[in-house]
Amino acid sequence: MAEVMPPNMLNDRPRTPAGMLSNAEKDRLIERGFLGLYRWYTARSQETRNWNADRSFDWRSMNQNLPSELITVIQGFFAVEQYAPDFTSSLIHLVRRSHGRSHFQMRWGSEEEKHADAWENAVLFSGQRSPQWIEDYKHRLKSQTWELPFPDAIHNLVYTVFQERATQLNYLNMMKIAQGKSEKPHLKGIVDPVLAKVAQTIAVDEAAHYNFFLEGARMYLYYYPERTLEAIRNVIGMFSMPAATLIPDWREFSETVYRAGIYGPRDFNRDVMQVAFRNLGIESRKSLEEGIRKTREVPDFEGGNFATTAIWDTFDYGQVEGDVKRLHVKIEEYEKGIGFDLYDPTTFIANPAVPKSASDDGQAADD
Ligand SMILES: [Fe+2]
Ligand SMILES: [Fe+2]
Repeated sequence: MAEVMPPNMLNDRPRTPAGMLSNAEKDRLIERGFLGLYRWYTARSQETRNWNADRSFDWRSMNQNLPSELITVIQGFFAVEQYAPDFTSSLIHLVRRSHGRSHFQMRWGSEEEKHADAWENAVLFSGQRSPQWIEDYKHRLKSQTWELPFPDAIHNLVYTVFQERATQLNYLNMMKIAQGKSEKPHLKGIVDPVLAKVAQTIAVDEAAHYNFFLEGARMYLYYYPERTLEAIRNVIGMFSMPAATLIPDWREFSETVYRAGIYGPRDFNRDVMQVAFRNLGIESRKSLEEGIRKTREVPDFEGGNFATTAIWDTFDYGQVEGDVKRLHVKIEEYEKGIGFDLYDPTTFIANPAVPKSASDDGQAADD
């Protein structure tokens, strides 16, 4: 985290106890992990998800009689995704010193840009919005700038974990509707294979994004448990979907999405928060709050490596260690395939602060 501190503060930081990793070393390990993960991700993205917003879908065959609620939803998806240049530029700027993270954000931005174009095509080919209407709508949206929800890298990383999962869920539920599988009476029997394919294709990208940010959050959790858990607590305390305050018809959109059974507070709790918690070895929101409170009862030295042992009771560090190890095995295999291992292999270094009973029993998340 040295990059977030002004240079004159570096000497004031607590010294590292013998046998512990210094913050500089932790930052180096996290950066290496991100870099290796980014290289793996890019190769996989090009091999398996190299679709095109125009050519990958039979747009002329899109259902011309979709109910107006669904057009409202598709239009809202488009409105959020079309802030891709703002999301990308803000995040790149925030992590510009990290090769792995800043290059990843460019790749990520190129994928989000496709989502915006695909949803815009869906609005157009629904036949229910004129090109002029779309032009005016875009103009209104672009007159506002999306800004980072949090000032620092770790909070934004954690925010993105939850946001990507929530977005994936929205699209998967849209896919179900377009496959005729809605449980809502007013949406039963709708079939649009083109819309279903669009929603599914984009949902697969969102799952890959979720996994990338999740792996990153796990590395932070493993090397910086205290500040990562606090960031998770802060993010879920004020989570909302990106650009909610910028989109003029957001209220209508979110109500429609809710009524369509696509996304609402219950979905966030059950299918976003609890899923991410499970992937991060956190039992529940309550246990997270309690764990943070307990660590505060024991004196420690803010920002240093004198962390209290109470933090290790807050999450399943054995699971997280297993997941971080597995990530490194994946990176090592990728690097061997290229020959990077001959020069400078990425290797897993255990955090000596982690209690010894850490075991390799977690489940790896993969896309
Ligand atoms: Fe997206
Ligand atoms: Fe995404």
